[in-house]
Amino acid sequence: MQMQNSTLMETSRRASARLLAVPGVRDPAGGPVVAAKAGRQHRVAMALGAVCLLLLATAPAKAAHTINPEADRKAFQAYFFAKFPKVAKSDYGNGPYAINAEMRAQWKQVMEFPPYVFALDDGKARWAKPFPDGKHYADCFENKGVGIRQTYPRFDVKTGKVVTLEDAINACRVEHGDKPLKLGGQKMASLTAVMAHSSRGKPFDIVIPNDPRALAAYEHGKEVFYSRKGQLGISCASCHVLAAGERLRGDYLAPALGILAAMPIYRAHWGNMGTITRRFTSCSKKTRAEPMKPDGAGYRDLDYFLSYMSNGIPITGPGARP
Ligand code: HEC
Repeated sequence: MQMQNSTLMETSRRASARLLAVPGVRDPAGGPVVAAKAGRQHRVAMALGAVCLLLLATAPAKAAHTINPEADRKAFQAYFFAKFPKVAKSDYGNGPYAINAEMRAQWKQVMEFPPYVFALDDGKARWAKPFPDGKHYADCFENKGVGIRQTYPRFDVKTGKVVTLEDAINACRVEHGDKPLKLGGQKMASLTAVMAHSSRGKPFDIVIPNDPRALAAYEHGKEVFYSRKGQLGISCASCHVLAAGERLRGDYLAPALGILAAMPIYRAHWGNMGTITRRFTSCSKKTRAEPMKPDGAGYRDLDYFLSYMSNGIPITGPGARP
């Protein structure tokens, strides 16, 4: 545990040192960044404050409390384009492989026989099988569900809630007399793999309608992403924004831009597939915070926020990861 902690802190410290060197980013406390008594935890906290300031600072001038997803998205993407000038925009859907040559070489080998093919075959069989009432998944989606993954999550004006791709699949099942699937399970992963596969190359195209409930859901997702939780006092952004591209134990941290484009993923470490919900749950545990409810507003809105930030980044899923 101690090892893990200090590796993380070291990673964050290096990242924060660089971040704080960015012109225009002030130490949130207004004083020297490394005060005499300041420990590493403190510096991580400072760095996080700085990233928020960075996002605000790079956003076009706007009133303090307006919710402006498009300005946020531009600032978010500009941050990564500046951090990784050699990475093409279209490559962000390849996660850690986009930013590290060593991993890229490994990946090319893995892709000679992609480990997600079994899930894809399983998904195709499930997709074709009729529900108890004789209807199919294809009956629930426009264009029979082909090539539409990049438009999820969506905001549903009727319920006022965000609907993720996993939610939409379950709603279809329930509507046609079947039971919902576990959001983090293998069957769900097989089905989302089929939908992602037919949408490869299509850029994320998430819509946030000008509806106060949609904007509130977006803002909530953003808050989940940036708020520091758990015993370590770190957020999703600590690892996937600040320390993106750095090594954390055996892994290279994927940049938050495009981070959902490859979902669902086969992870060698798991020995099977993971949906977005599974990945969110396992990453929440890294902060040693209680994971949120798999079907609650926390992860739904988080998916909405992250996917919107990735508008323009092509879908690459299903993916394979170490
Ligand atoms: C302690 C650092 C840490 C924190 C905090 C963290 N993650 Fe991760 N995350 C990782 C590591 C390590 C991986 C696996 C390597 C990789 O893909 O970056 C990962 C992978 C992911 C992936 C899959 C990326 C891919 O391309 O395969 C997603 C999505 C993700 N994290 C989302 C989140 C979200 C959302 C949060 C906040 C709830 C979060 N992470 C918090 C370390 C972290």
